[in-house]
Amino acid sequence: LKTPSQRAPRSSGMFLRQAFGRTTTVGGIAPSGQPLTRKIVAELSIDQDWVLELGPGTGVFTEELLARGQPAERLLLVESNAAFAEHLIQKLPKVRVVLGDARDLRAILASVGLTQVSKIISGLPFRSFDSELRNDITSAIGDVLCLGGVLLQFTYATKPPLPLDAARRAGLVGKRGELVLANMPPAFIWRYQKTT
Ligand SMILES: C[S@@+](CC[C@H](N)C(=O)[O-])C[C@H]1O[C@@H](n2cnc3c(N)ncnc32)[C@H](O)[C@@H]1O
Repeated sequence: LKTPSQRAPRSSGMFLRQAFGRTTTVGGIAPSGQPLTRKIVAELSIDQDWVLELGPGTGVFTEELLARGQPAERLLLVESNAAFAEHLIQKLPKVRVVLGDARDLRAILASVGLTQVSKIISGLPFRSFDSELRNDITSAIGDVLCLGGVLLQFTYATKPPLPLDAARRAGLVGKRGELVLANMPPAFIWRYQKTT
């Protein structure tokens, strides 16, 4: 494992610039801190399976996944902000980055020859979205996550990040995990499993 100082900078200045006027999509003013990044990535087993990352921003989860041995060629990032997507393409040339909306997951996966994945890690600001977008993305996740597959999602709220009804319809059962107090603001990690 690389030490934090060996890794690329977290691109905080860029994140702040993109956050201006985009509170409902960017959902914060700084990338997730290292304590949250480490804990959420540690929840995933690393092997040769694809990992789908939603809302990577400047790529703090991506870099932690790579540092833990996730093959770059088996990482698919879906980011709706063009500046973040371009930044990721430049910084991580071996990783597949799609500029697109997480509600279109089925088509996005098809564009790279995939139908389903077993692991999704998400930095999407679900609780900032309107209810239609929240429901649409939950349903899209349910479509592309294989049976037994796992979705990791963090939230600053005490309530579940995914809407209950939409999650149930999508076959996603959620469990609240650790509260990472060292993150600013503190964040809960939720683990969802596709059960039907
Ligand atoms: C709170 S930031 C998280 C960034 C990074 N994962 C982190 O934890 O620092 C949310 C990210 O989700 C992206 N995003 C918001 N809505 C999206 C959507 N519908 N589809 C794909 N990405 C989206 C934003 O552009 C932003 O990069």
